[in-house]
Amino acid sequence: MKNLIYLDNAATSFPKPIQVQEAMLRYMNEVGANPGRAGHKLSVRASEIVQSARESIAALFNAGDPSRIVFTLNVTEALNTVINGFLNPGDHVLTTAMEHNSVMRPLKYLEESGVITLTVAPCDHRGLLKIDEFKNMVREETALVVVNHASNVCGTIQSLRDVRKAIGDTPMLVDAAQTAGCYPIDVEADGIDFLAFTGHKSLLGPQGTGGFYIRAGLSVRPLKRGGTGSVSERLEQPDFLPDALESGTQNNIGIAGLGAAVDFILKEGVEKIRRHETALTANLLKRLYDAAGLTIYGPLDADFQTATLSFTFDSIIPMDDDPGFTGCGSVNLAWMEAGMPVGEAGDRLDDEYDILVRVGLHCAPIAHQTLGTYPDGTVRLSIGYFNTSADIAFAAEAIKKILS
Ligand SMILES: Cc1ncc(COP(=O)(O)O)c(C=O)c1O
Repeated sequence: MKNLIYLDNAATSFPKPIQVQEAMLRYMNEVGANPGRAGHKLSVRASEIVQSARESIAALFNAGDPSRIVFTLNVTEALNTVINGFLNPGDHVLTTAMEHNSVMRPLKYLEESGVITLTVAPCDHRGLLKIDEFKNMVREETALVVVNHASNVCGTIQSLRDVRKAIGDTPMLVDAAQTAGCYPIDVEADGIDFLAFTGHKSLLGPQGTGGFYIRAGLSVRPLKRGGTGSVSERLEQPDFLPDALESGTQNNIGIAGLGAAVDFILKEGVEKIRRHETALTANLLKRLYDAAGLTIYGPLDADFQTATLSFTFDSIIPMDDDPGFTGCGSVNLAWMEAGMPVGEAGDRLDDEYDILVRVGLHCAPIAHQTLGTYPDGTVRLSIGYFNTSADIAFAAEAIKKILS
C-alpha cells in the first residue's frame, strides 16, 4: 500500500493495535462457538473472552460491576437503547447544540411524535456549553440530560463535572464516541449515569462493536427482545443485566477484538495516549495558527480539545458578540475572502498528498450551525494514537502549499 497519512481517526481509528486482529483471528480459528449458548468447552471459552472484554471496559471507565456494561453494535445503537428505553411520555430532555445526529435524530423523533419535549442548549462559537444558561434550562420534568463529551467536528471537550454540578441529580447520558479510550473517563468521579461508547474509534477496536454503561438503580427497556441463552424456559425477557439488554448473538469476534484493544489501552495508559495526542494537536495548531487564509474552529487549545481540528480554506470575520475571537489566522486579509470549497480542499489533500481527511458536515449539522460552518461544513483532520510528528509536519506543509 502507498504511504498514506490517515488523519480520519474521528470517523474510525486506523490502524488498530496488532493484538486486535490476533484476538479476532484466535476467536475465529480456535474458539468459534456461541458464548452462553451451550455448556461445551468452546462455548465456555467464548463466554470467558466476552466476560474478559466486559471486565476490561468496566475497569477503563471505573464502572465497578462489569455486568453493567452492555454490548451493542455501535454507539448509535447504545444511544438509541438508552433514549428509547429510559424516557417516558411527558418527559423533558435537555441536550446541547454540539450533538451528533445519533443523539439528535432519536430525540427529534420522540419530540415530533409528541412523546417528549426537547431543549437544545446553546454553545459558544468554540463549541463550549454556556453553563449558566444551561443550568437554568433544567426543569422539574427533565428526565434526562444528553451531552456530547467531545465534538466530532472540532474536538471541543465539555467538562462533565461542570455539567453534573449544573444539573443536580438529573440522570445524565454521555456520548463518549470521541473520548472513550483517549481521554480519562471515570463514571463515578464524572457523575455519569449512562455512558455510551463505540468500539471502533478511540477505543481502537473493530467496527460493529460498542456499548454503554448503566448506573446501578437505573433501568432501561430493551430495544430488542429475544434469545439470551439464559432462563430459556421463560417467554419473558430476563430482567437482569447484561442479558436484559443483549438479545441475539452478538458480534463476538468483534468483542474479542475490542477486549484486546481495551487491554492495549489499559497497558499503555489513557494518560499516555492523551499526552501523545495532545502534543500532536498542539504541534499542528502551532504550525497552522497563523496560516493566511485558513480559519480554524474550536477551542484552538490542545488541552481543551481532542485531537480533532476543523478548518476552512477562507477567512472569516469575527462574530460581533465576541471581539476576542481568535479562530482565524488571516482575519484582516480582505483579499483572502474567496475561499476554496471544503470538498476541493479534501480532494487535493487526498490526490496530491495522500492525506486522508473527512470533509462536510460530519453527521453533526447542529454543531456546524453552532460553529458558523453550516451548510458547507469543514475539512476535518483527526489525529490518532499511531500518528507521528512527521505526519503532522507533512500535513501542515501540504495545507500551506494548498493555501499558497
Ligand atoms: C460524537 C459521535 N456520536 C456518535 C457517533 C456515531 O458513531 P457510530 O457510527 O459508531 O455509531 C459518532 C461517529 O462519528 C460521533 O462522533
